[in-house]
Amino acid sequence: MALKITVIGTGYLGATHAAAMAELGFEVLGLDVVPEKIELLSSGRVPMYEPGLEDLLRRHVAGAEGSTGRLRFTTSWEEVGAFGDVHFVCVNTPQKHGEYACDMSFVDAAFTSLAPHLHGPALVVGKSTVPVGSAERLARVLEEQSPGDVELAWNPEFLREGFAVDDTLHPDRIVVGVRSAHAEKLLREVYATPVAEGSPFVVTDYPTAELVKTAANSFLATKISFINAMAEVCEAAGGDVVKLAEAIGHDERIGRKFLRAGVGFGGGCLPKDIRAFMARAGELGADQALTFLREVDSVNMRRRGHMVELAREAVGGGSFLGKRVAVLGATFKPDSDDVRDSPALNVAGQIQLQGGQVTVYDPKGNDNARRLFPTLAYADSAQEAVRGADVVLHLTEWREFRELDPAVLGEAVSSRIVLDGRNALDGEAWRAAGWTYRAMGRPRA
Ligand code: UDX
Repeated sequence: MALKITVIGTGYLGATHAAAMAELGFEVLGLDVVPEKIELLSSGRVPMYEPGLEDLLRRHVAGAEGSTGRLRFTTSWEEVGAFGDVHFVCVNTPQKHGEYACDMSFVDAAFTSLAPHLHGPALVVGKSTVPVGSAERLARVLEEQSPGDVELAWNPEFLREGFAVDDTLHPDRIVVGVRSAHAEKLLREVYATPVAEGSPFVVTDYPTAELVKTAANSFLATKISFINAMAEVCEAAGGDVVKLAEAIGHDERIGRKFLRAGVGFGGGCLPKDIRAFMARAGELGADQALTFLREVDSVNMRRRGHMVELAREAVGGGSFLGKRVAVLGATFKPDSDDVRDSPALNVAGQIQLQGGQVTVYDPKGNDNARRLFPTLAYADSAQEAVRGADVVLHLTEWREFRELDPAVLGEAVSSRIVLDGRNALDGEAWRAAGWTYRAMGRPRA
């Protein structure tokens, strides 16, 4: 009989994983402790913007017209415990307030809530990004608190926001940290379709599986900070970081991806993951191994300050008092409504603190941004955001911004100065329309 699957936590990761498991043909029960989320998901709507996810959900959620009915949601741990053969834990592990370490309280709560309801044989699979050593500890929690025969596996998730559905259905690789052939067999059954379609299946122990995730994110963060460090040098030396990235990227050992210089990385993963990794390495006495990540973090944070300075220069070099600044973009990346640790909002907030009148526009992120930065002004379109602006900052590379007509926008501003914090606009077109176009790490025209 086909395995029955539960998914605990219905954020970006859990909601996508639940819908993807139903797409793969399994009966799925999703759980969240927030009843409003469960209500929303049960009615076929997702609480965030993620391309393709709502369609996938509606194809399977019970009650939706024409759906397979394979996907349901609940707030009951008892129901989840009784239903599943395999339980995926997908809750988030944010950065602790004022510390580098990650906050494990949601993971711990999920395990202690679930364990007493596991009466039969079951496999619990951790997907959250956790400090190495957590799986070992959580396996003991299951051992001590579950009445049934319960095993743990660790199966990190590598999905990117904006591509979550595709990344989940067609992963680059599947990594499973297991302690028994039985756990491996069950996970091979769960992932049979992507594996048959070519996704590599890598079997490891617990600590390696946990580390693969933090190592991968640290590598990506390092790549971005490397190119941003080169952008700093290019600016000092009159070089062009975009050409430099293209040229070094032709070397296959380096590769062309993740070498886009600009205001740097943000979001709910890369910044907090490298910090939590450093904190954990410190506990293990291996802090020296990761001191370079401190530099990766500071190069990244410096980008935001640098953009503020470029904006100051653009409005005359002195104070922002009385100056109007338009910020295009609020999310940490395009095709997402996620504003967590967003460079765009950080820059907007810094300028406002220094007296600037900042108006932000984002195609999908205005509502989330408003909750986090309620004192900033928000516009309903790029055209409205730039009205009367002394400088326009392009900080999240939405397609909509690339398609703007600089000539039309130029009619609305007070000065035609645009600072491209993502190296994504067509500088020539903006210059041809009479704008002073400046990009990070590139020569001034
Ligand atoms: C990341 C990892 O890519 C993913 O594998 C992991 O599971 C979760 O963390 P995500 O946070 O969704 O995914 O975004 P990603 O596409 O990695 O971008 C992160 C940040 O880096 C964004 O702010 C993006 O704008 C920035 N970035 C990315 C750059 O500044 N330059 C680049 O070349 C690439």
